[in-house]
Amino acid sequence: MIEYRGVSRSFGPKVVLDRVDLVIRDREITYVIGASGTGKSVLVKHAVGLLSPDSGRVLVDGTDVTDFTEDQWRPVRRRCVLVFQASTLFDSMTLRDNVALPMRIHGKVPRHEARDLATGYLEAVGLASKADMMPAEVAPSERKQVSIARALTLSPECLILDEPTTGLDVVAGAMVDRLIAHLARDLGKTVIVVSHDLRSIFGVADRIVFLYKAAVRLDGPPAAFRASTDPVVRQFVGGEPTGPMET
Ligand SMILES: Nc1ncnc2c1ncn2[C@@H]1O[C@H](COP(=O)(O)OP(=O)(O)O)[C@@H](O)[C@H]1O
Ligand SMILES: [Mg+2]
Repeated sequence: MIEYRGVSRSFGPKVVLDRVDLVIRDREITYVIGASGTGKSVLVKHAVGLLSPDSGRVLVDGTDVTDFTEDQWRPVRRRCVLVFQASTLFDSMTLRDNVALPMRIHGKVPRHEARDLATGYLEAVGLASKADMMPAEVAPSERKQVSIARALTLSPECLILDEPTTGLDVVAGAMVDRLIAHLARDLGKTVIVVSHDLRSIFGVADRIVFLYKAAVRLDGPPAAFRASTDPVVRQFVGGEPTGPMET
């Protein structure tokens, strides 16, 4: 469980988060949505210690991590792994070796064992048959699946996926959506998905957190989102820009 209590964060004069209160529950799929530049990535970076608040507290599983040192963050970051929007694979390694890499580095797992485990994680994301292929030989959505498999090697309880479907076409996006559902429903993971497109959200999310002007504008299940009469929410659902959009 990740809890934000009155979290504020500015960059220079720009207030990005203004006293945000939010609880992310275990084993749910929470979508953090909002227009580009509203602070979605800034919000989730607070959950893994890549940013700390100017004021307010962040709690992970009931422990106040706000003032944690790098050393204290390390074990927390293995329980909750952030997969960046731009997380990339090594071109010159097979998919299997890409997935095996963190186990070799962080877990000091012997090569053969890491390779076997990597095959298992590729299976978990539906890509075992392509384990020997190179990143350039597979589709962009499959590369995203591989970066999620690579995150799974740390056995996290929680995965944060920052814009996992951005830049993917509808079919590829749907594959990633299925994987997101699988992570939570079958593997019991807590999944936080940062997204600024609505394409997949209604089918997958247990809960939607809508950021608007540095605050949580709406926090609830998809049904509450659909039923909202808030004009700002309606405008977002209707696909009208509420601010600068990327695409
Ligand atoms: N490290 C940083 N330094 C300065 N400004 C930042 C930094 N990170 C984010 N910002 C600013 O915070 C705002 C929100 O950024 P971000 O969370 O990345 O938006 P998004 O909702 O698109 O993920 C943007 O205006 C961005 O320029
Ligand atoms: Mg972002």
